[in-house]
Amino acid sequence: MINTPLRAIGISAVFIFLLPCFHAMSEEAAPAIIPLPLSMQVAPGAFSIDAQTALIAPDAAHTVATYLALRLRKVSGFKLPIRTRRVHNDSTTIVLRLAAGTEADTGEEGYRLSVRSGQVDILAATPAGLFYGVQTLLQMLPPDVHAPNPPRLAPGELRLPQVEIADRPRFSWRGLMIDVSRHFFSKQQLKKTIDAMAMHKLNVLHLHLTDDPGWRVEIEQYPKLTSVGAIGDRSNPRGPARLFFSKDDIRDIVEHARQQHILVVPEIDMPGHAEAAARAYPEFFDGEKTFNPANPDTYQFVKNILTEIMGLFPSGYLHFGGDEVRDHLWADLPEMDSFMQEHGYTSLHEVEEHFDRFVSNFIAEQGYTPIGWDEVVAFDVSPKTIVQWWLHLRPQARDQAIAKGHRIIISPTNYLYFDYPNAVGEPGAPWEGNDNGPNSLELIHQWEPVPDSYTEEEEAQVLGLQANLWTEFITTNDYYEYMIFPRLSALAEIAWSPKGNKDLDDFKKRLEVQCRRYEAMHINYRTPGEWPSDFTYITN
Ligand code: ACM
Repeated sequence: MINTPLRAIGISAVFIFLLPCFHAMSEEAAPAIIPLPLSMQVAPGAFSIDAQTALIAPDAAHTVATYLALRLRKVSGFKLPIRTRRVHNDSTTIVLRLAAGTEADTGEEGYRLSVRSGQVDILAATPAGLFYGVQTLLQMLPPDVHAPNPPRLAPGELRLPQVEIADRPRFSWRGLMIDVSRHFFSKQQLKKTIDAMAMHKLNVLHLHLTDDPGWRVEIEQYPKLTSVGAIGDRSNPRGPARLFFSKDDIRDIVEHARQQHILVVPEIDMPGHAEAAARAYPEFFDGEKTFNPANPDTYQFVKNILTEIMGLFPSGYLHFGGDEVRDHLWADLPEMDSFMQEHGYTSLHEVEEHFDRFVSNFIAEQGYTPIGWDEVVAFDVSPKTIVQWWLHLRPQARDQAIAKGHRIIISPTNYLYFDYPNAVGEPGAPWEGNDNGPNSLELIHQWEPVPDSYTEEEEAQVLGLQANLWTEFITTNDYYEYMIFPRLSALAEIAWSPKGNKDLDDFKKRLEVQCRRYEAMHINYRTPGEWPSDFTYITN
């Protein structure tokens, strides 16, 4: 993905010409779109989807057209044929257009959406842009359109208000991380999450696949990673269940995400946070939970695993972790002295650097983009490495990454850790960010993630934002959803909508409608005060 620094959107001359008249006519209620589009003008009038409505799309947009047709067929029962051009008896049409050169207006992922009484037009430079236009269109319909098995709506309900929208994202990386190691979450739960992400125009699902409690992805060359390493979770360390994704599961998740323009980015956390792998293959570890960088065979083990991972995840990104390498037993390893002598190292810091540099360079040599948590910025890792800033108490790591020329993803604990409580006294993780209070919906929505002091060039190094759901304490699907929703709406709005004042009251009004959509999707979103009082949750 290419990050385009925010520029004033170039709206076409036609569009500018229309603005005054739309504005003058407009006292219409705006549809409740989340994230808020860059510009939206509403006028009296509507487009009604009926039995004669056809979709017109070029072959290159056929996948998006099919997605829209299926969604609309489910709620309407209409045929909604897809054609490459209009025929004379099409009374109303929804036209999807891909126009090269439109990027000047819309960027790679933006779109223009125009609804008139007889025709809807969505114009974009890419299928992703059309897909986001379709998401906006779906949010103009009743919330039930988001149900997996929606009820049949009456024809009169399938009305789109007359609007002109020009929209494009602020950031190209709009992500959510799910930790499936501490507690495992099923393929079905991830697909449900992907569907909800698509509705929010988010585009990266980062899977934290490995950590101390469990290794959650099949690796053919090392079957014990799952036959041993996938046993149990943080609540039940001895299992008995083996909890992991087979390669077919992963392909299924990746394809489900791909159809909705979401990249799945795998994380294999190393050299620390690896106790599950150490249980399976202790010969490559330090006797506890950290890879052994002094054993030359460890590097082949790492290469073989990462090669299988790259074969499974076509996203082009591979996160190698690199965080919290501490409490290791490296100093006690019999081969460490000679390893350090051989390389002229005088500290274990240099040993850690050696490992991270090897891994990041290997990933980059394979044509993938390495990603590491912000600890890696202390090292001379591949310059291609994207640095993910997480610890809010360490803003200097973020700034150092920028100064060294890395691209960064912004994920600080005190805003974007969704395992932290929504409000005082509510469930959530008791560590890092809690000293700054809960990560409320309001706090996230009102936050400007890029420091004011950044120059335009520095801001262009900010790829985007990502929220993280660590699951030490999150044991059920209901709890998982309670922590993500509706904060995901606030994330979407700061990741997509333009920089600047964000109207919290207006957001909350739109959120009321968004919550009806969550209900249609059977999502257990948080309603303040409704956490079951008899629920006991683990906090250590
Ligand atoms: C992290 O939270 N250890 C990246």
